[in-house]
Amino acid sequence: MRTPVSPARGRLATALLLVFVYLNLAAAVSVPRYPELEARTRADLDANTVRRELGSRLSPGTLIFGPNDEQFLTITARWNTFAPPQIQVVVQPGTEADVSKIVKYCNQNSIDFLATNGGHGNSASLGTFTGVQISMASLRTITIQPNQKSAWFQGGVYGGLVTKYLWERGFVTTTGSCDCVGLLGAALGGGHGRHEGLYGMVVDNLLQLNVVLGDGRAIRVSPTSHPDLLWAMKGAGHNFGIVTSFELNIFPRGPDTWHYHNYIWTGAHLEPVFAALNRLHNNGSTPVNMALNFGFFFLNATVSPTDPILSWTFAYRGPAQAAEALLADFNAIPAVHTDQNDVPYPSVSKAQANAEDDFICQKGSKRVTSTAGLQTYNLTAERLIYDAFRARAVAHPALAAGVGILHEGYSTAGVDARNPDETAYPFRSDHHLMLFNAVVPPNDPVLEELAWEWAEEVRDMWNAGQPARAENNYVNYANGYEELETVYGREPWRLARLRALKEKYDPQNRFRFYNPIVEPREGKGKGKGKGKGKGKRRSFQG
Ligand SMILES: Cc1cc2nc3c(=O)[nH]c(=O)nc-3n(C[C@H](O)[C@H](O)[C@H](O)COP(=O)(O)OP(=O)(O)OC[C@H]3O[C@@H](n4cnc5c(N)ncnc54)[C@H](O)[C@@H]3O)c2cc1C
Ligand SMILES: *[C@@H]1O[C@H](CO)[C@@H](O)[C@H](O)[C@H]1NC(C)=O
Ligand SMILES: *[C@@H]1O[C@H](CO)[C@@H](O)[C@H](O)[C@H]1NC(C)=O
Ligand SMILES: *[C@@H]1O[C@H](CO)[C@@H](O)[C@H](O)[C@H]1NC(C)=O
Repeated sequence: MRTPVSPARGRLATALLLVFVYLNLAAAVSVPRYPELEARTRADLDANTVRRELGSRLSPGTLIFGPNDEQFLTITARWNTFAPPQIQVVVQPGTEADVSKIVKYCNQNSIDFLATNGGHGNSASLGTFTGVQISMASLRTITIQPNQKSAWFQGGVYGGLVTKYLWERGFVTTTGSCDCVGLLGAALGGGHGRHEGLYGMVVDNLLQLNVVLGDGRAIRVSPTSHPDLLWAMKGAGHNFGIVTSFELNIFPRGPDTWHYHNYIWTGAHLEPVFAALNRLHNNGSTPVNMALNFGFFFLNATVSPTDPILSWTFAYRGPAQAAEALLADFNAIPAVHTDQNDVPYPSVSKAQANAEDDFICQKGSKRVTSTAGLQTYNLTAERLIYDAFRARAVAHPALAAGVGILHEGYSTAGVDARNPDETAYPFRSDHHLMLFNAVVPPNDPVLEELAWEWAEEVRDMWNAGQPARAENNYVNYANGYEELETVYGREPWRLARLRALKEKYDPQNRFRFYNPIVEPREGKGKGKGKGKGKGKRRSFQG
């Protein structure tokens, strides 16, 4: 028979019970603890400690590297060394199940962790990271499903690998366009690529994901399991978890060859080139098979030391004849150089100079970037940008030599066809993605400051060229200093919804290093003070 307990004694009993439970759990170290909201990095953290404390709990294929290991430099190399994450130890899990254990170990020891794959993440916010890199490079299995409509991919696959694997078996899927870029790095922010005219962005084909949350729990994210998180993973995913594997639609591979046509024009032809581009794209009505064209302004000394060339490349899903009918306007513009051919799809990246061994994919340069999202090209704005480049080539040739101003034009029907509210990716009416990209010398603050001024000037010129539209910055091209509304969408419900989900799925803000929707707290020497350039640059590097 139970005796009634006084409220006071009841509270005492509960408190004692809690202490007892807490001590037991602490002894078993089986439950993540968060001693501080912001984990401090353990001063004694090194590869030997991690090997000793964690190694035996992980699968035999797991690799653990520290700065003294030969592979360390390669595995921590970054496309942009401007604000690199500070990596103390690399753990490369051998199986998906290891990821959860690594995260729990980090939580128990107040260590921050960062998943990496292609190393192309560009945001300055990555520079606020110090801790353990969880390298996804061993997780690259691809399993085509029996119905041949989808495949499971592990979290370490990248564009070129996926494209080649599927093509050889008769399929294609949505990836980024550059072979070197991690499929998930791109996908978690949206994922633009050559099949988006037909099939939409990568996020539009994501069926389900296996995700490790910030507390180390491994969950399935699908339309029936945590569907609210599925929405967030499709555009703001870097803020929510580590994807160990995912199921993505695949499609019959289509024509055996794609046609490409590359052109180099001088700046004298800028207006006819952009007028022809606007006719081709017709404000988002690009023929779906005209998959991707992009062009750079850059200095080619063979052509001119001061007048940048317009170097454009077109990729068409299908034969030359159909492609050339759409390129007639471009063929009519006198070119310095042209090159065209028909190749199987996996060779298109080489033809467009974004294969793994091409210049654009290479790591180890310090870069200053800015971006913009456009609907149509403004010829006046492009002329202003071009002429400002010429002026820089005269005034600062060492800086100008490292600059490329990228203009991308995808076929976008499959992107526009989706309800924009259905994914966290907010910018479906941007038909053109722009990127200013300056490779700067590692130790030249004066040139670097000039590069930032230039980067901001070009971005502002792009945006001034579309006075009726808001400034948009694709999260995967963002430099990390942009206002969050310009990255995750201006509709107030978007950030509100993302932050509510953040509270639900990552209350400790463990994922805050890639354009974070909840910013690191002040007081770590990395506040939100305004940078110099037009009040837009925050000082992430501290
Ligand atoms: C040369 C170049 C070409 C590009 N081309 C395209 C393009 O065609 N289309 C496009 O959409 N974007 C493109 N981008 C942008 C690209 O999507 C981003 O830079 C992306 O973040 C790179 O992913 P990564 O794995 O290579 O880089 P990483 O730096 O390794 O990762 C970037 C971010 O993604 C997170 N991440 C990586 N893997 C996982 C995972 N398994 N689970 C959870 N988080 C993960 C990391 O934690 C990090 O925050 C390009 C960038 C460059 C530099
Ligand atoms: C382009 O299309 C969008 C709809 O996607 C429309 O709002 C805009 O007015 C169009 N712009 C022009 C210049 O026609
Ligand atoms: C530079 O221009 C020359 C001459 O037209 C051309 O052959 C070469 O491919 C160009 N180089 C680049 C990187 O565009
Ligand atoms: C094109 O850009 C110029 C220069 O910024 C701007 O004045 C003009 O309004 C823009 N035109 C359109 C149609 O938006």
